[in-house]
Order: sequence, then structure tokens, then C-alpha cells
Amino acid sequence: MANCVACHNNDPAKDGPIGPAIKGSPKELIAARVLRNSYPPDYKAKRPTKIMPQFPYLEPEIPYLAAYLRAESAQQSER
Ligand code: HEC
Repeated sequence: MANCVACHNNDPAKDGPIGPAIKGSPKELIAARVLRNSYPPDYKAKRPTKIMPQFPYLEPEIPYLAAYLRAESAQQSER
């Protein structure tokens, strides 16, 4: 997360200073963005820009990132 909150919000449900809200992002989307700077086929990106850098060394963290963003969205829907 330390890598992400520079641009995305501490609260993934909200837009950050540079990046959009990423709450509930599926693992395929996170992997495509973080590792390859791409999008899954047929995914409609929230932003048409190409500002986000790649973080290939975060590959082992992808499942945790996905679980974290999913947990955030689960909490959100309980409220
Ligand atoms: C330098 C700023 C920056 C950093 C750091 C950054 N992002 Fe992003 N992110 C963006 C921007 C800007 C976009 C919108 C598309 C673009 O311009 O690349 C984006 C888009 C995304 C999207 C797709 C949103 C959608 O549904 O279209 C995901 C998922 C995402 N980022 C996750 C992450 C994760 C996870 C990290 C940490 C490993 C991270 N980002 C780090 C700026 C950043």
C-alpha cells in the first residue's frame, strides 16, 4: 500500500490525488495494472490516461493487494 497511496487514496473507496478509487478491484485488474501497466481484455478503464507506473517487483504482493481491496469493499457494503 505504501507504493500506492502516493497517488491513490488511503481509503481505496475514494479518489486519490492522482489515481482513481480502486476499491474492489479484481485480481486480474490489479495484476494487469501493477505488473504490466495494461488492463484485462474488455475492461473499461476508469481513466483514459497512462500515468500510473509499473511495479513488477510487487508480483508476490498481488494476492494480498486483491484481498485487501476486496475486504475494503466488503466493509463498505456492510455500512
Ligand atoms: C504515480 C501515481 C500512481 C501510483 C504510485 C499508483 N497508481 Fe494506480 N493509477 C494511477 C492513475 C493515474 C490511474 C488511472 C490510469 C492511468 O493514468 O494510468 C491508476 C489506475 C489504477 C487502477 C485501475 C483503476 C480502474 O478501475 O480503472 C488500479 C487497480 C490501480 N491503479 C492500482 C494501483 C496499485 C495497487 C498501486 C500500488 C502498487 C498503484 N495503483 C500505484 C496512479 C498511480
